[in-house]
Amino acid sequence: MSQLRAVINLDVPGPTVSRHLYGHFAEHLGACIYGGIWVGEDSAIPNVRGIRTDIVEALREIAIPNLRWPGGCFADEYHWRDGVGPRADRPSMVNTHWGNVVEDNSFGTHEFMDLCEQLGTEPYISGNVGSGTVREMAEWVEYLTRGGEAPMSSLRRENGRPDPWRVKYWGIGNETWGCGGNMRGDYFADLARQYSTYCRNHDGNVLYKIASGARSDDYAWTQSLMQTLGDYGCGCNPKHYFDAVSFHFYTTMTDRKTGRATDFSTDEYLESLANAWRVETMIKRHSNVMDVYDPEGRIGLVLDEWGTWWAVEPGTNPRFLYQQNALRDALIAGLHFDAFHRNAGRLVMANIAQTVNVLQAMLLTSDDVLIKTPTYHVFEMNKDHHDAARLDVHLLDATPTAHHDDATVPLVTTTATAKDGRALISLTNLDPEADHTVAYDLRGGSPSDVSARILRADSPQAHNTREAPDAVAPVGYDGATLSENTLTVTIPAHSFITVGFETGRTHPSESEDQR
Ligand code: AHR
Repeated sequence: MSQLRAVINLDVPGPTVSRHLYGHFAEHLGACIYGGIWVGEDSAIPNVRGIRTDIVEALREIAIPNLRWPGGCFADEYHWRDGVGPRADRPSMVNTHWGNVVEDNSFGTHEFMDLCEQLGTEPYISGNVGSGTVREMAEWVEYLTRGGEAPMSSLRRENGRPDPWRVKYWGIGNETWGCGGNMRGDYFADLARQYSTYCRNHDGNVLYKIASGARSDDYAWTQSLMQTLGDYGCGCNPKHYFDAVSFHFYTTMTDRKTGRATDFSTDEYLESLANAWRVETMIKRHSNVMDVYDPEGRIGLVLDEWGTWWAVEPGTNPRFLYQQNALRDALIAGLHFDAFHRNAGRLVMANIAQTVNVLQAMLLTSDDVLIKTPTYHVFEMNKDHHDAARLDVHLLDATPTAHHDDATVPLVTTTATAKDGRALISLTNLDPEADHTVAYDLRGGSPSDVSARILRADSPQAHNTREAPDAVAPVGYDGATLSENTLTVTIPAHSFITVGFETGRTHPSESEDQR
């Protein structure tokens, strides 16, 4: 067991940790939409206008701030006009990327916006660049957001929605280096300017445009985008074509086919952690590239796909990306959130892939039963970080580490925030074997009223099933004690803890979006 000392200055609030770092992603892929979120109005499973009620309730509990849709790779073959109007009249298509299944377009724009309204979340729509047209994207924006008399607003009205919606987050393409068109960076950068030009702000709706970004550590892609941001043509009317650039990073085993979600050795566990830790380096290095072109930090970095990607569960369609979710996934989520908190500011949004039944899901469905995964519980336990002010955690001792091949794997990570006079510390112990202790010296306040919760199980492989839905679920924890201004927390091997307390100070926190 290591004993670590840390200092937190309760009177020095840092940047706001945007709630959008806790964003989500739902694609027309496997059983995420169909059979997951969307069961249809005639289903025996309780639903509101076809949207599964227990899913809405569970996601409301974790206050999801935004939901990205319809893809992913699917977004670049999605034609929105096929998904509006009477369902019986909607044409079908083949979802060529995800299993060649026939998509009947019964879940379209109106259904998605209804879902967002039921969830109380902001839509993040990913527009089609790969196989769509500028006109098609421009008209989708108009259909969604324009009021009054205009061709697209009239069509929307005919389809049952008189008032325009408010849509802020707008993606220009997805993985345009791959499934979104196999483009080169400079070519897409120009296309992003072109598409962006025609995605207008209608009737006071202001779009926040996110250009499809890099794969993992492709910093040259970010450079291409950043270089083309400004209007260098005449210099007379500087425009900025997008508000953010994205990148995607998944935690995988070196060989995706063999990395199983629940059946892994300690060595494989360490390999996956080593890969997961790469996320923080990538955030920093993409940010460094952005700093060169945007020293004022006006353009946001958006990690709009992240999460674990294991081999699919035996017997399931390999293109449906259905995987179990173990305590290891929860610990990897804890690691990511700490990296997000430490880089809040330039990093403005992150979206886990994906919300239901796909990859690192929050929720798994089994007929009429809904299973909350260990990852779901980390989102819930970390909820009070949303829009709170970061409190930097200064570790005075080196964290314990493990090694996998050439990689050094830090085994303890912790961050803190404060909001409305109450602080929340998150603490992840990735160590497969040893407990550790962190003693936080809480300066500049009068801490009191400590309460802690823990997510743990006998092994990192533990997971929730239909038969044992609460095998991994948070419980109260008495391993956090306050003595004067020192908060001492013992964190058992492979566990995630949150500790809340009154700071004795009032911290300002921005409730509005960061940018
Ligand atoms: O989330 C699954 C897929 O991963 C997405 O469709 C794509 O953008 C990424 O490659």
